[in-house]
Amino acid sequence: MRALVAETRLHPRDLVLPVFVKEGATEVTPITSMPGVVQHTLDSLVDVARQCVAVGVGGLMVFGVPRDEGKDAVGSGATEDDGILNVALRRVREACGDDLVLMADLCLDEFTDHGHCGVLDERGRVDNDATLVRYADMAVAQARAGAHVVGPSGMMDGQVAVVREALDDAGFEDVVVLAYTAKYASGFFGPFREAVQSSLEGDRATYQQDPANLTESLRELRLDLEEGADLVMVKPALPYLDVVAAAREVADVPVAAYQVSGEYAMIEAAAANGWVDRRRCALESLTSIKRAGASVILTYYALEAATTWL
Ligand code: PBG
Repeated sequence: MRALVAETRLHPRDLVLPVFVKEGATEVTPITSMPGVVQHTLDSLVDVARQCVAVGVGGLMVFGVPRDEGKDAVGSGATEDDGILNVALRRVREACGDDLVLMADLCLDEFTDHGHCGVLDERGRVDNDATLVRYADMAVAQARAGAHVVGPSGMMDGQVAVVREALDDAGFEDVVVLAYTAKYASGFFGPFREAVQSSLEGDRATYQQDPANLTESLRELRLDLEEGADLVMVKPALPYLDVVAAAREVADVPVAAYQVSGEYAMIEAAAANGWVDRRRCALESLTSIKRAGASVILTYYALEAATTWL
């Protein structure tokens, strides 16, 4: 009876699996703070992508983990065709074609030696407009590598407009822009820093949003839609369900939400201690995120949920 009258139903196609691929790796490396999540080799990434296709996961969001020696002040690896992320995108697109939606994280933080999401000015602060130039090049490199969707996640002002224009000018009119619209300066990104071996010192509070603010997100949303966003995202997800619901009210494009590394780690850690039921809490979280208004959910549970839970 409950299944018959349920108002919210999760489907594998709602889910996008975030994946990490490590440059030069010959074996997968576990991420301690995210049990069950690994840094992939190119081959294991392709295997996972194929598994996602087999069980009908909606998409894959790819993050590159370059070698430390390859990092520099402007994040050169992000725009080079042989940079790890672009190589990985090409491999997955060749293997899976259009059978799953291939998404690329469009941000410099994995590629810069200082770990910030953009390039710095002479005073060591992130330079918004100089960063936009890099994002434009990065978007085109990712589209050339086969990304169906680029996800500018650095929270620079004007990033969606610049990326849209660069893609159009390069002939990639059909590549979709997933805007990280409301990205909060969050403690829940903690485990991600291990996942991408980030060299960040300090924080991102000058460009990510204050957790105290909702109205600010609606302003970001309006700007992203004006700039041409095809999808808008709220991140993290569970602590910001009011923001998801508010975005759903206003946006005339699909709303996505990202259940981030810390949300995953909390469930895993509590479950490992026997304090909560892992599957139940994971599904309850995902269902709540959908109920709040997200039709696309990025989650490290995507493959397991699609394979054995849904
Ligand atoms: C930035 C980026 C981050 C995450 C996704 N994209 C880190 C940050 O902004 O600090 C976090 C994802 C997660 O925690 O699962 N490229």
